[in-house]
Amino acid sequence: MHDDQIALLETSFAEVSLSRDAASVLFYERLFVHDPALKRLFGDTDMTGQGQKLFAALDLVVASLRSLDKVVPMLEQLAVRHVRYGVRDAHYATVGAALIETLSLYFGPRFSMDLRRAWSDAYEAVAGVMIAAAHGVAPEGEGAATILSRPASAGTL
Ligand code: HEM
Repeated sequence: MHDDQIALLETSFAEVSLSRDAASVLFYERLFVHDPALKRLFGDTDMTGQGQKLFAALDLVVASLRSLDKVVPMLEQLAVRHVRYGVRDAHYATVGAALIETLSLYFGPRFSMDLRRAWSDAYEAVAGVMIAAAHGVAPEGEGAATILSRPASAGTL
């Protein structure tokens, strides 16, 4: 990402952070309009708890911008936990769309093409790392460590 994109993300995130609760309500509304079936993944977590999760995720995205490589191991572990939560590849696009819509509603006419592009590039970079990491994980019961510790199958070299 370019430095000016990162600066845009940092300042816009600082602003939206001032209205965490309102932005969270908006986000989950948009998310569940896109895919009502996702509600069940979040269980009966209250909105405040969900808002904290949303902003924990955004904190992560923004904090990762300057050195994505440093947070890759953390994102990989996060991705493994997400498989356990029932999250699948396609859900990342849905969450990304809900995020952009939320920001667009929040900033209104100030949500410029540059700002939109900066947010979607950042989200895609983080989601891309997570989706790739999730591919090494079996959906039920079997962790990445189990898969990696399997002996190489007989017959290869
Ligand atoms: C850039 C992508 C994402 C990031 C950075 C992110 C980040 C987080 C974080 C930090 C948590 C807190 C719990 C933990 O650390 O394990 C969390 C929980 C969760 N996330 Fe994500 N997330 C992302 C994408 C998604 C997607 C695509 C979904 C699918 C709908 C999703 C669904 C959930 C659920 C269901 C929980 C747990 C809710 C609960 O405990 O009830 N996340 N996420």
